Amino acid sequence: MTPRKTELVVRGGTVVDARWAGPADVFVADGRVQALVEPGTPVPAGSDAVEIDASARLVLPGGVDPHCHVGFTSGDYTSLDGYAQCTTAAVFGGTTTIVDFAIPRPGEQPAATAHAQRAKAAQGLCDSALHGCVIDWDASVPGQLVDMADAGIRTIKMFTTYRGESMADEDTILRVMSSLRDVGGMAVVHCEANHIIEDTQSRCAAKGHIAAPDMAATRPPLAETASVAGVLAIAESVGAPVYFVHQSTPEAVELVSAARRRGVAAFTEAVAHHLILDDSCYDGPEAERFVCCPPLRPRATVEALGRYLITGDITTVGSDHCCYDLGQKRSRRDDVRHMPNGLPGVETRLPIIYSRYVASGLLPITRFVELTSTNPARTNGLYPRKGSLLPGADADIAIWDPSATWTIGVDVLHMATDYTPYERMAVTGRPETVLVRGNVVVSQGKLIDSEPRGEYIPAGPIDLTPAVLAR
Ligand code: URP
Ligand code: ZN
Ligand code: ZN
Repeated sequence: MTPRKTELVVRGGTVVDARWAGPADVFVADGRVQALVEPGTPVPAGSDAVEIDASARLVLPGGVDPHCHVGFTSGDYTSLDGYAQCTTAAVFGGTTTIVDFAIPRPGEQPAATAHAQRAKAAQGLCDSALHGCVIDWDASVPGQLVDMADAGIRTIKMFTTYRGESMADEDTILRVMSSLRDVGGMAVVHCEANHIIEDTQSRCAAKGHIAAPDMAATRPPLAETASVAGVLAIAESVGAPVYFVHQSTPEAVELVSAARRRGVAAFTEAVAHHLILDDSCYDGPEAERFVCCPPLRPRATVEALGRYLITGDITTVGSDHCCYDLGQKRSRRDDVRHMPNGLPGVETRLPIIYSRYVASGLLPITRFVELTSTNPARTNGLYPRKGSLLPGADADIAIWDPSATWTIGVDVLHMATDYTPYERMAVTGRPETVLVRGNVVVSQGKLIDSEPRGEYIPAGPIDLTPAVLAR
């Protein structure tokens, strides 16, 4: 076979993988990593490679965001970005693959919704994969799950809350899990026990405490714990893998870890805002900026959750990106049951986690890569094409300046909204240059290629090997 021409070299940086970090140059050919070589290795004769200087920089596999809602409709609200905007913000933040959700609206079939959403990938500046979603079981669902799996949609979201919107009952969850088990898929579950939440909300409303500043009290940790326990029992009973999105309490994380120790293929996702912000945000004048489900928790809970990053109990870190603007967030701040929940975060996920946990010395850089890129790729059937810089992987690369200091603000971000929950937060570390399949999209912090070259990446079977289940 003719050796491929080296087209690009990233020189002089510290390459980071989930298990290893060290000096190496990265050779890129045909949009893929061709080789990791000794620093200074000349390119093969006949190659006319572009060289990128990564001295004093970290060379990371681009981030994989496992939880990203693009143009998401819930209730009366639709979040404000499309694929072009969301992925532009993603690449500025060092993320080169997003995993979006196809959540059926009333009357829609899960597979039809998924196929329609999948077609939008080509509008992106980076690549995307997709979670399907089942709300109601009927006889057509098993066939739709096979159809979706054949199209590379193997992770299926279900919600135990949001009655009348996207809530699935326990029979549906059990049947979907059983069907997915047989097609190499996995249920991805938002766990908050709806009966506990509705009852709590009614009691809060009766006392006149149902506005944005009351958010934390309206969705108690107990609702999450109860639901996680129930869903884990279903997974264990049918022998199916399960992934819990945005776990926000130590109790919920512990339930999943204990199940994993018993041999259940169960995963915990934490999302960036639960690892940084606490419920004191609801005391400020603009509490609605922070309304998300589950809500922000007390500081001690945030710190405890952060420790699970280090111990390995948390498998992935996502953003749960939802791009609402302040007009939308303010419109029903009087009643959290009606306002849009969710926070913009696809662009800030990596910088805030890097700054708070890696730059501060709490988290090794290898573990950062594992949590934000490698494990999201594994649990979504995208590894080793994504989440790795091993030869053969897509050359999705974030060249990271570990010592840059900057202040987060809506003025320097690119998400399709007019606020960030991290306004005026000072951080250390940022992506400087970002490559998507070997194309330089962001260079020195500037967008230099706005051509939409995004591809839909079909998921293979979910990785349930010890590499991802070990901890
Ligand atoms: O508050 C949130 N997380 N909104 C987005 C939908 C969801 O529950 O993930
Ligand atoms: Zn959710
Ligand atoms: Zn979400």
